[in-house]
Amino acid sequence: MKQSKIKIKWPNNIETYASEGDDWFSIAETVGFEIPTGCLTGSCGACEIDVNGETVRACISNIKSTKKGCTLRVSFTTDPYWGN
Ligand code: FES
Repeated sequence: MKQSKIKIKWPNNIETYASEGDDWFSIAETVGFEIPTGCLTGSCGACEIDVNGETVRACISNIKSTKKGCTLRVSFTTDPYWGN
């Protein structure tokens, strides 16, 4: 079955398309973003991004659509430990 492309809008307003199941790191790279990483096992929170207002740990999540035709808006979470 062919998956429809999911539109992703990045903080600098660049839009890309990804497929369900793509990993966040490689799609971020295509628009020049580097999502920070730490443990890569889901426990440290270094890779957290906000997707449509929901915090997602990029290292343990794949891109998934919430409903057909929905745009995923990504922003970076403000981390109280690392600062911004
Ligand atoms: S890199 Fe530690 S939670 Fe993702």
